[in-house]
Amino acid sequence: MDLKEKLPDSYSHIDETLDSAKLILSEAVSNTQTLFHTPVVSTMNENKIVSRVMVLREFNFDKKILRFHTDNRAAKIDNLTKNPSSTVIGYDADLKIQIKMQGQAKVHIDDEVAKIAWNESTPRSKKCYSVKGGSSKKIENPGDYDITNFEVEDGYQNFAVIIFNFLSLEFLYLKSSGHRRALHDWYDDYSSTWLVP
Ligand SMILES: Cc1cc2nc3c(=O)[nH]c(=O)nc-3n(C[C@H](O)[C@H](O)[C@H](O)COP(=O)(O)O)c2cc1C
Repeated sequence: MDLKEKLPDSYSHIDETLDSAKLILSEAVSNTQTLFHTPVVSTMNENKIVSRVMVLREFNFDKKILRFHTDNRAAKIDNLTKNPSSTVIGYDADLKIQIKMQGQAKVHIDDEVAKIAWNESTPRSKKCYSVKGGSSKKIENPGDYDITNFEVEDGYQNFAVIIFNFLSLEFLYLKSSGHRRALHDWYDDYSSTWLVP
């Protein structure tokens, strides 16, 4: 059964919006075709917001986390070390659902979390971390930075895991008969409320 068929056509109880978000995010980890497989992750660089697309590697609702992988030379590492506040957002036009999460992200480099994630990565994923010079460096000729001669395990020294701990999740469903917007948050105890869409 495809994802759309598993989701309700209308939302009358707020718990259904959280159940749908869980289903969408769980499916997004393994299914590269779903739009939430590549959400937008935003961080702060001093007083500027910086956004980029990242591959969702894990969703664990009980721990309230999303896991992402990156190069530890990337600008976002410096952003998050200085300010862990971050947002993850995605919109699936087919499902007509937007999910927006706010929280705090922690960087893991060469620790247990990074080691487990590296060991579970495919050689194809590991290859990216063998790029010379690290991301965002200004260069003359991009062809010089194609990854050709490399030892796949050497990439580990450039590997980082970002664990995003979400404290709120906003669900927006667009439907012509009436939009539905719900906010779930875990700042203290769990609470939820409908919002004007
Ligand atoms: C489909 C797609 C998937 C991407 N996945 C990742 C990813 O999983 N991790 C990552 O660090 N960058 C990923 N990127 C590249 C980022 O969007 C970004 O360009 C790069 O990480 C540099 O970001 P920064 O300078 O803000 O750190 C992806 C880009 C696209 C288009």
